[in-house]
Amino acid sequence: MPPLPSPYTPGEAPPVLVGRGAQLTDAQADLALLATYGRFLGRIRVHVGSRGVGKTSLLKAVRDEAGRAGAVVAWVTARGDESLVAALVAALVRALDDIGVDVGRRTALRDRLTSLTLELGAGGTKAGVELDVSPAAAPGTGAASAAFGDFVALAAAAARERGSAGLCLLVDEVQAAPREDLRTLAYAWQELQQATPEPSAVVIAAGLPNSPDVLTAAVTFSERFAFRTLERLDDADAAEVLEAPARDHEVSWHPDLLAEVIALAQGYPYFLQLFGDAVWREAGPPAGTVLGTDLLARTRSRVDAELATMFRARWGKASPGEQRVLGAMAELTGPAEDDVRRGEIAEHLGVSSNDLGVPRRSLLDKGLIEVAGRGSLRFTVPGFAAWVRQETGG
Ligand SMILES: Nc1ncnc2c1ncn2[C@@H]1O[C@H](COP(=O)(O)OP(=O)(O)O)[C@@H](O)[C@H]1O
Ligand SMILES: [Mg+2]
Repeated sequence: MPPLPSPYTPGEAPPVLVGRGAQLTDAQADLALLATYGRFLGRIRVHVGSRGVGKTSLLKAVRDEAGRAGAVVAWVTARGDESLVAALVAALVRALDDIGVDVGRRTALRDRLTSLTLELGAGGTKAGVELDVSPAAAPGTGAASAAFGDFVALAAAAARERGSAGLCLLVDEVQAAPREDLRTLAYAWQELQQATPEPSAVVIAAGLPNSPDVLTAAVTFSERFAFRTLERLDDADAAEVLEAPARDHEVSWHPDLLAEVIALAQGYPYFLQLFGDAVWREAGPPAGTVLGTDLLARTRSRVDAELATMFRARWGKASPGEQRVLGAMAELTGPAEDDVRRGEIAEHLGVSSNDLGVPRRSLLDKGLIEVAGRGSLRFTVPGFAAWVRQETGG
């Protein structure tokens, strides 16, 4: 028999999402309000966390929930060089098309879409509708949010007419969206609070830890958003990430190996999947196998090579000045990967704490470091500090 393919998913959404019950329960509650009462969810939930902690995986699980609840789902991964609102409209038009709402033939919807397009200056025929391509207007204005709001209301009504629960808009990488689009979305969501009938719609988003800063800078009111930090997994959940996929194939992890991998991954889901995958491939286990401690030594160099590639790419995102800050942090972090106080970093570099402001902000925005409590910082990925120490000869 050929070896069983690896059930681990480094870099992809896992078949079973471990340890995110609370987030999924919230989403289910929102979707139930949508489906049962046609409610408008006025607060935009934003799941915040560093890269690899599981934001996209969570959002995909929410998408599946929304599908089960009978919602029309639009998924957009925001990017700096693309209008988020235009992308949401295009995704909604496609999803509406799937349930037989032909946006092109509905005059009202079509009018809104055309005027919205005008408003945003977006173009092309992405949505399969003739879009006005005139170079236009000021995005982020009241007119843009009103037009987008109208479109959402009409689309939600059309969806309900077809027996759908309503609209579920999912935005990944929300921190990357152009600021004016965030403003359009936030103001539209604010104004729709007053709409009658209530448009049956919900927005759920995910983004890097700087998302709250980005969003509150884009709009002056932040009550519109409900931020929630996605934490790393605790040891019990980490064990479940490793054991559950193996269990399905009647393969188990020796407790010692399990403990070692959990210690290495530090609750960081991407690493759990990476180690799980490497161990599995090395073992090629038939049913009944117990994965033993010898496997770690045999896979370590392969995993380390993959990690080094990832660390190098992250390092390359930092400017020379920022790299000096990372170097200082790495030296101060120590093997236990403790948090580092901001003052210590400044002292180590022989600069004032003020001078650290700019590189600190930039490193936070790039997702390389995160705030670890008042005045303290830490790396977002386990193992990065050690790699930096090695790289800089520290
Ligand atoms: N709750 C979870 N349970 C199991 N694996 C997870 C979980 N969350 C994330 N992962 C795994 O971690 C990796 C990173 O997940 P991803 O959703 O892409 O993170 P992010 O979007 O925050 O960068 C993927 O390999 C994914 O399979
Ligand atoms: Mg992601």
